[in-house]
Amino acid sequence: MSGQLDGKVAVITGTGRGIARNVALRYASEGAKIIGCDLNEETAAETVELVRKAGGEMEALYPLDLTVEENAHRLAEFAAETYGGIDILYNSAAQFRIGTIEDMTLEDWKFSQDNVLTLHFLVTKHVIPHMRKRGGGSIVFVGSTTGILGAGYPGNLSFLLSYCCAKAAILRMTVILANELAEIGVRVNSITPGAVGTEAGLVFYGEPGTESRRVSELGTLVPRLGEPDDIANAAFFLASDQASWVTGQNLIVDGGLVASGGMGPATPENKAAMAPVVKQFSVVDDKWTTTGEPKPAS
Ligand SMILES: NC(=O)c1ccc[n+]([C@@H]2O[C@H](COP(=O)([O-])OP(=O)(O)OC[C@H]3O[C@@H](n4cnc5c(N)ncnc54)[C@H](O)[C@@H]3O)[C@@H](O)[C@H]2O)c1
Repeated sequence: MSGQLDGKVAVITGTGRGIARNVALRYASEGAKIIGCDLNEETAAETVELVRKAGGEMEALYPLDLTVEENAHRLAEFAAETYGGIDILYNSAAQFRIGTIEDMTLEDWKFSQDNVLTLHFLVTKHVIPHMRKRGGGSIVFVGSTTGILGAGYPGNLSFLLSYCCAKAAILRMTVILANELAEIGVRVNSITPGAVGTEAGLVFYGEPGTESRRVSELGTLVPRLGEPDDIANAAFFLASDQASWVTGQNLIVDGGLVASGGMGPATPENKAAMAPVVKQFSVVDDKWTTTGEPKPAS
């Protein structure tokens, strides 16, 4: 690897598993010192071991619930005390409850808001003073295509209501904080992943060959689930100086789900249905017209 994060200190949340584990491995392989954390002691410790075995430097706090402000503060202080400051924050930790508006309780709603949106707010709030001391930094939030597209869930189902709303809010937080923190040299961007085949993701998307997997891959232009490293690559770019002129942006990494409006490539059935309409159009004097005039012989 290129050592492009040499000398940097990166705080990553939710490093116990999934995408954040790969981001920790990636940032460490580029030379960053990693501070992680998770609710889950066992998996959080595993990630620390994996990073160290790969030759990287990492410490972590666990079990740590980031919905508690005191813990978010502790994480930031721990990073600064351990490695002398903070340059990068990758906000990945999230958990949520599912349900449509009719079967979701207020408690379910609040649980998802707290564990998707509020912990982003809390960790970021307590990291900023350390970036201010450093004279800058890079913050990466993690959204979701569910915060952008249709009803949210593959198949256009709506039972991720609270999660989708929290993820949509993260995109606004990205833009607002990019503006607010520019004066202290902090860049703020977000990544919006599509369906990524992590342990948590696979609960929803299913195994290859299942109907749920077929529906989950349906609207993409690159017909597969994402890999955690697809997101880690974007996370590296945004954290590194390669993105030094990029702030307030949302990088959608979703195999083309959003770009196709969740429809995927044009199907043979759709092409056949539209063929008679397309034939009405003709080219006159090299210009497209809608008059139906036949194309002149060249
Ligand atoms: N996997 C996908 O398909 C997908 C798609 C879009 C967005 N995302 C987002 O990417 C991020 C990572 O997704 P993932 O699939 O790797 O998730 P994951 O469930 O595998 O990992 C999340 C980690 O965060 C930890 N965590 C949850 N709540 C916490 C809290 N309150 N305090 C501390 N740690 C906490 C969990 O213990 C877990 O280890 C999340 O923000 C998720 O919403 C994922």
